[in-house]
Parts: sequence; C-alpha cells; structure tokens
Amino acid sequence: MNYVNLNNNLKVPQIGIGTYKVENIQEITNLIEYAVKANYEMLDTASYYNNENLIGEVFKNNPELKKHFLVSSKVWPSDFDKDNTKRSIENSLNNLNLDKIDIMFIHWPSEGFLEAWKVFEDYYEQGVLKSIAVCNFQIKYMEKLLVHANIPPSINQVELHPYLVQEELSDYLKKSNIKIQAWAPLGRASKEMFNEKILVELAKKYNKSVAQIILRWHIDKGHIIIPKSTKESRINENINIFDFSLELEEIKLIDKLNRNHRFSQNPDDEEWLTKIRKGLK
Ligand SMILES: NC(=O)c1ccc[n+]([C@@H]2O[C@H](COP(=O)([O-])OP(=O)(O)OC[C@H]3O[C@@H](n4cnc5c(N)ncnc54)[C@H](OP(=O)(O)O)[C@@H]3O)[C@@H](O)[C@H]2O)c1
Repeated sequence: MNYVNLNNNLKVPQIGIGTYKVENIQEITNLIEYAVKANYEMLDTASYYNNENLIGEVFKNNPELKKHFLVSSKVWPSDFDKDNTKRSIENSLNNLNLDKIDIMFIHWPSEGFLEAWKVFEDYYEQGVLKSIAVCNFQIKYMEKLLVHANIPPSINQVELHPYLVQEELSDYLKKSNIKIQAWAPLGRASKEMFNEKILVELAKKYNKSVAQIILRWHIDKGHIIIPKSTKESRINENINIFDFSLELEEIKLIDKLNRNHRFSQNPDDEEWLTKIRKGLK
C-alpha cells in the first residue's frame, strides 16, 4: 500500500473503494468484507448515495470492520446553508454510526458552497471532521474558495481517467498543496477505453489486466483513487497494483489518450449546478 500526507497531515492510503450505486445491504456487506480481506483502508460514500445507513448497519453489527477504514462522505448542494449543512453532517454521522468522519466533501460547487464550507470549518475545528475537502471544483471555484476559506481543502475529488486527464487542474492543485482524487478512475469500465491498443499492450507486457494498468497509471501520477466494484475478484484485482510500476514514457503514452471526455456531469454545466442546488433530480 502507498500512502500520501494531506495538507493537514492526515495520512491517507492512495487507494480506497467507491460505493456509488451500491444500494442494498447484502451488496454493501459483501463489498466491505471483500475490501477488508483485500486490505483496503479507505471507503468513499455520500449522503447522495443512499447507502450511509447500510454501511452504518454493517459497522454496528461488526465494529471490528470499521477499524480498517478511513471513511469519506459528502454534503449535497440542496443542503448548502448553515442549518441544512449541519443537519446533513449530523445525519451522516448517525447513519454511518460514527462519532468522527475522516474526510467530508462538498459534493458539487453549486451556489452556497462558501456557507457550507464555514460549517465544515467549525466541525473540523471541533475535531468531528478530521479533514475537509471538495469535489468537482474547477480552477475558478477553487480560487473562490481559497480566497474565503480559513482552512484550505485537503483534496479535490474529480472525474479523472485516461480519457479525461485533467492536466491543468492537476498542476494547479499541486502548486496549491491540495491532493487530487480520481472518481471514475476506470472510466466506468468503458469498453472503448479498455480496448485501447496501448493499454492492451502494457497489460501484456506487465502480465496485468487493463484495469490494473489504468489504476497503476493513476498511482504513478500521484492520484488518490477510489475504484468501485461489488465483485470479490475485481476488488482484489484493483488493489493488486503495488508490485510493478510504469515507465515515464508509458505514462506519457497513456496521457495521450486524453480527449476531455466525461462519463458524467460537467461541473461547468451551470444548469446542472442550479438544478441540484434546488434539490431536483
Ligand atoms: N464526487 C463525485 O461527484 C463522484 C461521482 C461519481 C463517483 N464518485 C465516487 O467514485 C467511485 C468510483 O467511481 P465510479 O463507481 O463512478 O466508476 P469506476 O470506479 O471507474 O467504475 C466502476 C465500474 O467499473 C467496473 N469495474 C470495477 N473494477 C473492474 C475491473 N477490474 N475490471 C472491469 N470492470 C471493473 C464496475 O463493475 P462491477 O461493480 O460489476 O465490478 C463498475 O461498473 C464511486 O463509486 C464513488 O464512490 C464520486
């Protein structure tokens, strides 16, 4: 396992497991048990994923399991005012059966995120949130936050994979001492991406799967990653990437696959940001 230090000195593993769309108790129970067996040490959820209570149930039934993980969650934009941000954080704590949350994220940069950030700072100062962070923040939103924040975010979690390399944002975050975390690190297992010649060739060369080549590319670039799978074999496969590394030239060839393609919402889409602020689906 590789670790990185956040700007508040919290040490986090470079890989964790995602849980988006895992919404039933059996799947969550299995995912957590497989992840513990495979030595994952971080688990990512969100109030939006409707599974915090399921994760909390697993932790309540087996408190030993919780000890294995740093847990991250997120506040959704419809909760971006003082009272609702507080309520959302308290709900996450209750649902997850935790008295502290390791990393709490602002989920999208919709209007009102500065008000929510103030609440995050209060909870951070009380030690209830061990680290505070953002998701889907383009440079313009980072700049706005950094001007007003007393505590800078430790991480920016963004869509990031070989079809969306995010070089400019990565450079900006590196200079600002903020870690970049990749969501959809496997590009949601896009067939097209998994069939890219360079990825298939490297998989052959290193005797690894294409998924492992993509994940290793992230690790070699310094990203924190949270691939999601509900299958035991893939949960194992995705973390079994610390016994090889790519050469610089190979990393650059994968960088060249970039086509600024998103598999999900674009944070530049103002309509989307407004819609979710209003709580619409
Ligand atoms: N902050 C945000 O706005 C945001 C947005 C989206 C996601 N996230 C977080 O990021 C996590 C990861 O992103 P994601 O779930 O969207 O995408 P992802 O991890 O790139 O891809 C998940 C997909 O890949 C498949 N998969 C996993 N491992 C594989 C392997 N080794 N070989 C082939 N296919 C494999 C999974 O299927 P199986 O499950 O069937 O294996 C699933 O369909 C989420 O779960 C969530 O925690 C954050």
